[in-house]
Amino acid sequence: MDLVGCDFIRVTVATGASSAADLPRRADGIPCDRGLGAPVRSAPMSQDSSPAPNPELFDTIVNLTKRRGFVYPSAEIYGGFRSTYDYGPIGVLLLRNVKDAWWRSMVQERGDVVGLDASILSPPAVWEASGHLANFTDPLVDCTNCNTRWRLDKLEDPEQCPGCGKRGAFTDPRQFNLMFKTQAGPVEDASAVAYLRPETAQGMFINFKNVIDTTRVRPPFGIAQIGKSFRNEITPGQFVFRTREFEQMEMEYFVPPADAQRWYEYWCNERYQWYLDHGMPADRLRVRAHDADELSHYSSGTSDVEFLFPWGWDELEGIANRGDYDLTQHAAHSGEKLEWYDQAANERWVPHVIEPAAGATRTAMAFLMAAYDEEEVRGEKRIVLRFHPRIAPYKAAVLPLSKKPELTGPAGELAASLRRSFMCDYDETQSIGRRYRRQDELGTPFCITYDFDTLEDRAVTVRDRDSMDQERVALAEVEAYLAEKLG
Ligand code: GAP
Repeated sequence: MDLVGCDFIRVTVATGASSAADLPRRADGIPCDRGLGAPVRSAPMSQDSSPAPNPELFDTIVNLTKRRGFVYPSAEIYGGFRSTYDYGPIGVLLLRNVKDAWWRSMVQERGDVVGLDASILSPPAVWEASGHLANFTDPLVDCTNCNTRWRLDKLEDPEQCPGCGKRGAFTDPRQFNLMFKTQAGPVEDASAVAYLRPETAQGMFINFKNVIDTTRVRPPFGIAQIGKSFRNEITPGQFVFRTREFEQMEMEYFVPPADAQRWYEYWCNERYQWYLDHGMPADRLRVRAHDADELSHYSSGTSDVEFLFPWGWDELEGIANRGDYDLTQHAAHSGEKLEWYDQAANERWVPHVIEPAAGATRTAMAFLMAAYDEEEVRGEKRIVLRFHPRIAPYKAAVLPLSKKPELTGPAGELAASLRRSFMCDYDETQSIGRRYRRQDELGTPFCITYDFDTLEDRAVTVRDRDSMDQERVALAEVEAYLAEKLG
């Protein structure tokens, strides 16, 4: 497998693809040609060549994440706490790499998107205006036989309790609001009510005016944010796929109303490609347009990027055409004008919004599942996480062949010098074979073995995670060698 660029198939499917000439372009000439003018690509809707779902694999991977320090159940020494999870020393690197890769492509490499870090606590007025107080609900039913609680719209059979199997024992459904309510300050009255945000998106809308007043942006432009969101999910589950506390990576892209559909297609295309560029296999990734009855209250068009999880296809990210819903709502509720004044045309208009909204924690899990591989090597099973180098928690590991100080001393110095450029592990315990296997399970692209010959020839053995090929590389060139391979 090629570690740097992955050899994926690009698919061109008509989603109303436009010719280069009539696609929207930024009026101010800010380079924004990453796909604009290119045909809109999407995954085929039917995935006949995709691997079958594999539920057994799920447990195997969850066990690996615990064994290797990716994810721990939260408050485990107290018996755990309601589908919450802590990211361990390896998981925190994985999650950070996913967020960094998103930020890099959504903010750093573009000239038309700026960042934001808005507060998690917010007053009811925000959620009144956004529609969340009225609409952010799931239908909940209780089983009167076994006293369990279920989300009605997720049941395979709406009459049968999956817990005890009894039919016809459900209460009438009632709408359950998913927002976490709390109080800000010491006085417990109505004026202290606050909510933990259920999405990062509203932070971008309520700061729209601040951003246009204080920066040089003008439509089309985006505001991006990564951060925690909270939803009191009725049925969290499938490990970190659906949790009550999770991280999102969202961007609101403000465009002239007439260009909204084109930018929607552009962002579907961009976001699909981002996953491929970071190592998702094309046969486990697709874009699925929502049917009209699936659309959220604000959306005139939504497509999900879906990944083939061990239990089947499920959502990684939604790309929505939100129209002018949010800015209009916040303008009406706050009394502020949330619009764009086009000086040249002497026109005022409310930008429409295209929103690519991804889950960071869910995406990290999907990268892990996509990377998992098993193979037989010399009669033994080898487990390896074939992460894209940008996603891999550690980029390299330095392994002295023996614990003798003449090797551990300089090997430690090599690790320290590589750490100035990237995350580098160091391990001097156990046999070299076991240490290789451990790094394979962490998905470390390169192991560097410092042996007794190194003392003579000033070279080390670099082992490639995927091919297991070994190459002798001069000590003085190791850093440049890795930098080139890691891309
Ligand atoms: N602002 C739009 C919005 O929040 P969403 O589809 O509800 O849209 C976006 O959420 C993404 O956030 C989802 O595609 C998913 O990756 C992630 N997400 C949503 N709820 C989640 C949960 N309970 N646990 C983990 N990730 C979640």
